[in-house]
Amino acid sequence: PRAHIELDRRAVIAPVRRRTFGSFVEHLGRCVYTGLYEPEHPSANDEGFRMDVVALVRELGSTTIRYPGGNFVSGFRWEDSVGPREKRPVRRDLAWHSLESNQVGLDEFARWLKLTDSELMLAVNVATRGILPALDLLEYANHPSGTTLSDLRVANGTPEPHDVRMWCLGNEMDGPWQTGFMTADDYGKLAARTAAAMKTADKDLELVVCGSSGSGMPTFGDWERTVLEHAYDHVDYVSCHAYYQEHDGDLGSFLASATDMDYFIDTVVATADHVGYKKRSAKKINVSFDEWNVWYLKEHMASEEVNDEWRHAPRQLEDVYTVADAVVVGNLLMTLLKRSDRVTSASLAQLVNVIAPIMTEPGGPAWRQTTFYPFSITSRLASGEVIRPVTEAPTYTTARHGEASLVDVVATVDEDRAAVFLVNRDLAEAAQVTIDVRGLGSSRIAEAITLADSDAYARNTLAEQHRVTPFANKSAALTDGTITIELPPVSWTAIALR
Ligand code: AHR
Repeated sequence: PRAHIELDRRAVIAPVRRRTFGSFVEHLGRCVYTGLYEPEHPSANDEGFRMDVVALVRELGSTTIRYPGGNFVSGFRWEDSVGPREKRPVRRDLAWHSLESNQVGLDEFARWLKLTDSELMLAVNVATRGILPALDLLEYANHPSGTTLSDLRVANGTPEPHDVRMWCLGNEMDGPWQTGFMTADDYGKLAARTAAAMKTADKDLELVVCGSSGSGMPTFGDWERTVLEHAYDHVDYVSCHAYYQEHDGDLGSFLASATDMDYFIDTVVATADHVGYKKRSAKKINVSFDEWNVWYLKEHMASEEVNDEWRHAPRQLEDVYTVADAVVVGNLLMTLLKRSDRVTSASLAQLVNVIAPIMTEPGGPAWRQTTFYPFSITSRLASGEVIRPVTEAPTYTTARHGEASLVDVVATVDEDRAAVFLVNRDLAEAAQVTIDVRGLGSSRIAEAITLADSDAYARNTLAEQHRVTPFANKSAALTDGTITIELPPVSWTAIALR
């Protein structure tokens, strides 16, 4: 295919939000234990955190990290996870049918975040606990000192408050798999009361109410409307969660997953605005896309990895990602950027081992999955403002998502730099692309990096950790204000301009 793109720095959509590059750490499988925490590992620091993983997380460029769940949070007692480690209880986690040792809790995780320069986003358990434990956690985490709970935090070794700004009011409360799931009406009322109480303690908190667990949920749309009718005045964000996978060998549809994410965002924003108009409210509710990724959910559900045994840190949800998966992840991130007008926070689910860009082996190495690359490169290059490209490109028909463009693009522009992110969804042919960048004022290509492979299903594994890495796209040239570049089939590309 051939595509022509025009970029103009005046066509601003919204600022690049650093929180778009958030991620997610859940007490699930080996995300925490033998993922980011493994005291016996040769790279472990005094506190037991793997510094090889810290280095990769820094390179990934993730910003705000959602914690501690996920489904896990709906059975969690936060008090179990603070104080002297030897006194912490071992509990059953019903969500993943595992044992939780509580050896890593809020204070340790906050210290780990400092190593990675990330912001904490905390989820509270509203499913099986009430308003008071949420307020207690808020006091423990954020109150400076001089109250019983804040002084307990100080005694536990954290003199400064964690000052957590973003809080999730539970997780996927519409899902029948969620411990303590609710109807939209029940949850909306509870979320409103919890949020109002939390804001009485601190009116500047940013609170996320649960939206649907996916656009395929039977209650999708009605859920958002009902919940927001109750909670609109008290919350700041509604969440979206979406996971994609290739179904039945239909790679063409899979590569167009970003069009579905776009539809999902549109629908949720329209629903939130509808409630806002009905309430005659001047306030806008933004989207926290706080779980998104490729996840081979169907295969995991059919496997025996979540089973009747009560194991600590079992291998669960350890997807090994392909080049095609990385192209989709890169494209989903492009969509989140394009929607930065209303998606002002997002979390790649998850960070280490569990559907993650970073993998580890207990006692062994840590390595980058294919999906690591588009995320880290976009986080590094996107800055300033997101601009709306004018794109002329052929389309193709997909079974799952209708018509989709064969070439998708988004760009960002800053004072002295710009970046263009592209995918070619064609399964067989390279795309010949021209990009008119006269409207950017850039004069040279600083980098052109592509992720592609002759085998779209190539992966990085323990045995072959560097099988797939991005490479310099030598076809890229900038002459007389126009970039010409060839994008291999099933590929993701970033061009940095100065
Ligand atoms: O990210 C894995 C799981 O997916 C989370 O625990 C849950 O919120 C979602 O269903």
